Amino acid sequence: MHVLVMLGTAREDRASVAVYEAVVTALEAAAVEVTAVDVRDVLTVPQTIRTVDETDTNSDRHVWQRQVAAADAVVMVVPEYNHSFPGEWKLAMDALEADVVAGTKVFLATVSGGSFGGVRVAEHVQPVLHTLGLTLARPKLHVTQVETNYPRGQAVATPAQERLDDFVATVVGS
Ligand SMILES: Cc1cc2nc3c(=O)[nH]c(=O)nc-3n(C[C@H](O)[C@H](O)[C@H](O)COP(=O)(O)O)c2cc1C
Repeated sequence: MHVLVMLGTAREDRASVAVYEAVVTALEAAAVEVTAVDVRDVLTVPQTIRTVDETDTNSDRHVWQRQVAAADAVVMVVPEYNHSFPGEWKLAMDALEADVVAGTKVFLATVSGGSFGGVRVAEHVQPVLHTLGLTLARPKLHVTQVETNYPRGQAVATPAQERLDDFVATVVGS
């Protein structure tokens, strides 16, 4: 199985990077072939949607699109900003074409610093994925209090690790 894991925020000092790394580690431990894509590497300056040059099949946009289309499943790690998604995540989605990526399964890991675990960003993500023909799979992972549950450079806290393991087992079994 091949899973693409995507980190959907480019913010300096983003705590979600610890969730992203833990998802990659857990999938690799389950013998999954993982491609990890940080949205910072998808968006080059200026950070906007680039015109597709059909002759340049190695452009950032083509490469990103091919990675999504080729994956058996995509895990998107997306923090909640103002009850919605980071602008970078939306730009990465706007760089995709439904003709190319439709049908790929997406598993969502939402992240927040508080107690709600990003349930509101999950609602906003759905219509965007639907428009691209990307299938939002169940279940979702909702990470609460990310700084406590995914402390940087330390092991994931035990209840959070159990939820992550259940989530990864579902991705692997999909
Ligand atoms: C611009 C901005 C808006 C935010 N809005 C929300 C929010 O609406 N709800 C929430 O639970 N957390 C919100 N947060 C806090 C994030 O959940 C918190 O920063 C968490 O660490 C995950 O984001 P990060 O990966 O950027 O650190 C916001 C953070 C930023 C930077």
